[in-house]
Amino acid sequence: MKNSNNVLFFMAALLNSACTQNDNCGITEGMLRYVLDMAKHASEEPRDEINTLLEYDFIIVGAGSAGCVVANRLTEVSKWDVLLLEAGGEENYIMDIPILAPMIQFTGANWNYKSMPSDKFCLGLTNRQCMFPRGKVMGGSSVLNFMVHTRGNRRDYDLWESMGNTGWGYESVLPYFLRSEDIAIPELAMNTKYHSTGGYLTISYPRFRTPLAEAFLEAGKETDQRIVDYNAETQTGFSFLQTTTKNGTRCSTSTAFLHPVRKRKNLHVKKRSQVTKILVDPSTKRTFGIEFVRNKKKYTVRARREIILSAGVFNSPHLLMLSGIGPKKHLTDMNIPVIQDLKVGYNLMDHPGVIGITFIVNQSVSLMPEYFLETGKNLRDYFVNRTGPFTIPGAAEAIAFFDFKNPTYIDGYPDVELLFIGSSLSNSRLARETFGISDSVYDILYKPVEKIHSWMIIPIILRPKSKGRVKLRDNNPFHKPLIFPNYFDYTYDMEILLKGVKKAVELSETNAFKKFGSKLHDTPVPGCQSFEFRSDDYWRCVIRHLTYSIYHVSGTCKMGPVSDQEAVVDPRLRVHGIKGLRVIDASVFPTIPSAHLNAPTIMIAEKGADLIKEDWGHKT
Ligand SMILES: Cc1cc2nc3c(=O)[nH]c(=O)nc-3n(C[C@H](O)[C@H](O)[C@H](O)COP(=O)(O)OP(=O)(O)OC[C@H]3O[C@@H](n4cnc5c(N)ncnc54)[C@H](O)[C@@H]3O)c2cc1C
Ligand SMILES: *[C@@H]1O[C@H](CO)[C@@H](O)[C@H](O)[C@H]1NC(C)=O
Ligand SMILES: *[C@@H]1O[C@H](CO)[C@@H](O)[C@H](O)[C@H]1NC(C)=O
Ligand SMILES: *[C@@H]1O[C@H](CO)[C@@H](O)[C@H](O)[C@H]1NC(C)=O
Repeated sequence: MKNSNNVLFFMAALLNSACTQNDNCGITEGMLRYVLDMAKHASEEPRDEINTLLEYDFIIVGAGSAGCVVANRLTEVSKWDVLLLEAGGEENYIMDIPILAPMIQFTGANWNYKSMPSDKFCLGLTNRQCMFPRGKVMGGSSVLNFMVHTRGNRRDYDLWESMGNTGWGYESVLPYFLRSEDIAIPELAMNTKYHSTGGYLTISYPRFRTPLAEAFLEAGKETDQRIVDYNAETQTGFSFLQTTTKNGTRCSTSTAFLHPVRKRKNLHVKKRSQVTKILVDPSTKRTFGIEFVRNKKKYTVRARREIILSAGVFNSPHLLMLSGIGPKKHLTDMNIPVIQDLKVGYNLMDHPGVIGITFIVNQSVSLMPEYFLETGKNLRDYFVNRTGPFTIPGAAEAIAFFDFKNPTYIDGYPDVELLFIGSSLSNSRLARETFGISDSVYDILYKPVEKIHSWMIIPIILRPKSKGRVKLRDNNPFHKPLIFPNYFDYTYDMEILLKGVKKAVELSETNAFKKFGSKLHDTPVPGCQSFEFRSDDYWRCVIRHLTYSIYHVSGTCKMGPVSDQEAVVDPRLRVHGIKGLRVIDASVFPTIPSAHLNAPTIMIAEKGADLIKEDWGHKT
């Protein structure tokens, strides 16, 4: 599917088949209202500016999780003109139906990055390449993500501070998490030290739960774990997912932070415009503008004060290197004149996990598409009232955090996450494509159980030691950079993930899941048949075959003080050695937080915008 309209057609076909197969569909009125809501949503996105100025105070590159927040906060200062450039086009309301989250990757709203083929991980995926979808649309990856809202652990940020990043300790960043938050979960909202209401970003529980998700929390209790609000005092324990959704609909950063301020005269948004170079005067090392390409035509815009790179973990380092800011030898090899020698593209971090851990049940309780579309009810619930299973982000329902070093400590520092999915890869060919599983693996592993209800747990390493790198392929801005994730370079990463896998299987064997006749799917993963099923070596093999990037790539423009040889930006997010240039997005993380990265990225953007205001003498 090439563009977002195709998703629309796909949805229409789904609806159509659901309605023709069943007698009383009766969703016509709901659909009509939905179409009106769609038009309203479209009309609330800032328009694509035709008459851009020749010069702005600030130019922001990329309208993703971070860029939309920075654009909102900088244009609070009415005397500052801001240009926000985005390579992608409009967000579409269909993209905001939570259950469809995995499908957005099949549209033109995805940059479609893949890792270099490897012989150590992602072996069961097509071409032995890991998939790295990234948003190319207003809202960036916050339009593709699974809406899981987690902040991470207090110690993650205290670690940043201890690395010389003054002002980034937990006590300093908590107010920024709270600033954007609008919690719509009353029982959590009462805890005002950790939650707030009235911010731009709404956090809710999905409006439907499978009995399996309830069982997952029960399994936690049975195994002596606590039920927690992982965004409050202690993170370790079990919980239903807090999600960035509002009234059953995705809350992307474009919808949340740009729609409400679309009438600000000092905000210009230019869509379908790809920035190809940051212009830096080599003698003064000061930026003065950018070049961008729209409809195959090149344009230049000047910046009076600053340029802010919010192009994401692959594109921010890509643009820096294309502009002469990066590792000297690598740039020279690519025929790019070096302006500043910095370790751009190093420190690539992620939260690798494994997707093969599937459990079969004997009742109709999972989110199998054929099943939940069987009657018109679920469609009606969503299109009329925004309730029902469609409000669950891509079937992700619950989460558990474990500290395997201190398993009995209630305020542990989690090293593994288990993400509960009320469905599995065998339930849909589309899901298979989302994860990039090769046909040969799919046909053996999942095809025989396609029509059987099943669920899965995705175990994820929270603080891996292995680091990867992003490099230029060449000096053409339209050629994708090369991505080397280097998963499992350290034995620690493999062994801690193995603990997660075994914990997942243990949970599936609790009474809570036995009620559903839950049973580990016992077809050995192709490529691992030679190992004894369920032995440690078998699981290690599965981890290397069905490796899964949980999409938390980050760190390629590391934040750190001058003394940090690897640092690309300083603790005020200014590129070392260059004037008038900051990076504000998920690439500045010095170490990866124990969180899904949307909330931490939004926090960085909130704080980054404040730093800019301070540096230009504007009181915050
Ligand atoms: C499929 C998927 C699922 C995820 N699930 C979750 C989840 O459930 N919970 C969670 O917390 N996190 C999740 N994440 C991660 C999270 O969404 C990202 O870490 C976060 O969005 C990164 O924000 P960013 O601002 O760094 O980059 P992005 O949001 O990717 O924004 C970068 C923007 O810059 C634009 N851009 C890039 N280059 C240029 C250029 N040269 N010129 C103009 N524009 C440019 C891009 O098109 C994009 O809009 C997920 C990510 C993906 C992809
Ligand atoms: C929508 O909600 C209203 C009010 O709660 C209810 O009366 C109605 O039956 C619901 N419609 C559907 C299709 O669930
Ligand atoms: C949620 O969406 C439904 C369907 O559009 C609408 O009827 C309802 O008023 C909305 N609720 C809120 C709180 O916005
Ligand atoms: C499912 O399996 C459980 C455990 O074996 C059993 O108690 C239950 O009756 C089974 N249910 C169905 C519908 O087969």
